[in-house]
Amino acid sequence: MNNLSDGTEMPTIQLRTPIPGPRSQEWLRRRQAAVPRGVGHATTIFAARAEGSVLEDVDGNKFLDFAGGIGVVNVGHRAPSVLDAIREQLGAFVHTCFSVAPYGKYVELAEKLNSLVPGKFAKKTILVNSGAEAIENAVKIARSYTHRPAIICFEDAFHGRTMLAMSLTSKTHPYKAGFEPFATDVYRIPYAYCYRCSYSLQYPSCGVFCARHLEDTFKRVVAAEAVAAVVVEPVLGEGGFVAPPIEFLSIIQDICRRNKILLIADEVQTGFGRTGAMFACERYGIEPDILVSAKSIADGLPLAAVTGRAEIMDAPGVGGLGGTYGGNPLACAAALAVIETMTRENLPAQAEKLGERFEARARAWKKRWPLIGDIRGLGAMRALELVRPGAAREPAKEETEQVLRYCLEHGLILISAGTYGNVVRLLMPLVTTDEQFDEGLSVLEGALISVSESLAVEPRHA
Ligand SMILES: Cc1ncc(COP(=O)(O)O)c(C=O)c1O
Repeated sequence: MNNLSDGTEMPTIQLRTPIPGPRSQEWLRRRQAAVPRGVGHATTIFAARAEGSVLEDVDGNKFLDFAGGIGVVNVGHRAPSVLDAIREQLGAFVHTCFSVAPYGKYVELAEKLNSLVPGKFAKKTILVNSGAEAIENAVKIARSYTHRPAIICFEDAFHGRTMLAMSLTSKTHPYKAGFEPFATDVYRIPYAYCYRCSYSLQYPSCGVFCARHLEDTFKRVVAAEAVAAVVVEPVLGEGGFVAPPIEFLSIIQDICRRNKILLIADEVQTGFGRTGAMFACERYGIEPDILVSAKSIADGLPLAAVTGRAEIMDAPGVGGLGGTYGGNPLACAAALAVIETMTRENLPAQAEKLGERFEARARAWKKRWPLIGDIRGLGAMRALELVRPGAAREPAKEETEQVLRYCLEHGLILISAGTYGNVVRLLMPLVTTDEQFDEGLSVLEGALISVSESLAVEPRHA
């Protein structure tokens, strides 16, 4: 058992070496020589094994994993039901290519997703390998159906690293700079990032101006009849876990419907139970024409899906969609087990509880430490935006890095987010127990105290 400096017992976290340990350091040296630097990594540890919410490194250190492989293991690392399903499929076949010899699990999963994705209309689903690939397909399908070229996306959005997905992504460094030219017919408008409103307005007196302003975009930037789709994350992921006001998405949806523009919801990060519902669109009461899911869909196996209105999904001709590996049988088996587990264990409800537990603790931190500018998120998709002291809300990027480093050195894996790199985001598995969650939050609290003290500002007096 480990102890924090204040004597608190740490029952899950077990650190045997300084971080990174000698074996991780040796792998880091080899990695530097063998793998390009462009593939960044948030921590300096190398993984040996993982289970539930715990990740053990090659030096035998046990960490609480509140990054979950960037929101991929909502049902926990190596969920037993998922492992069983993968083993069973391994015993049958690993690959045939759905475009050559189709198999039932692909169809079964499509049926499940068609029934789970919000929308009281007939739906169809295509399976692919990654979030970016799913986004690319969603745009292809929207263009094919509408015969229109333009796509509208948002400031602070992240949709992936392939050419079109990167063009839809907002943040320049490190995602776009140097990779120009981008795909054409992509137009960007402000998101409802109320803490840093692009129009310097305040909610609710703003009347959600940013959403209504879409109409103005049709006059000033691109004609509505040229727009195939609006692509939106219901809660910004990489952009800083910004949960928009409740009306934002329904206003966008109404404007889209009036102009025969498709609404594509990117639920790659918000999906699969994370926000307290299977999909965040349910929380906002919208029914997108196309919904993209990935990440936690298959507990770590590479899988993503595009689900949409049947007539829209059928727009591309035979052979226009697909790929060698899309809907791999092992990944389909894993995803079916994930859905079954999520439903049986009611993990979306657990997400809500974890989120509330965080909120209660974070509110107390905010009263005390000016470093915390904003607390936000939805369900278990929660974040702290860190700022330098003063009225200007100057993003505290370096301090955020210090917080994350402290956490890692004390056994908690966390990652950052945000256009300014100053957001600490929580993506712990939804199976994290209350004890484990409190243990992780105590480490985060220690980091906030340590970094706040180094800023040498007086704590706020509650
Ligand atoms: C909202 C969103 N869309 C798309 C992607 C891209 O997914 P992938 O990394 O699987 O290509 C991500 C990845 O973080 C994401 O968060």
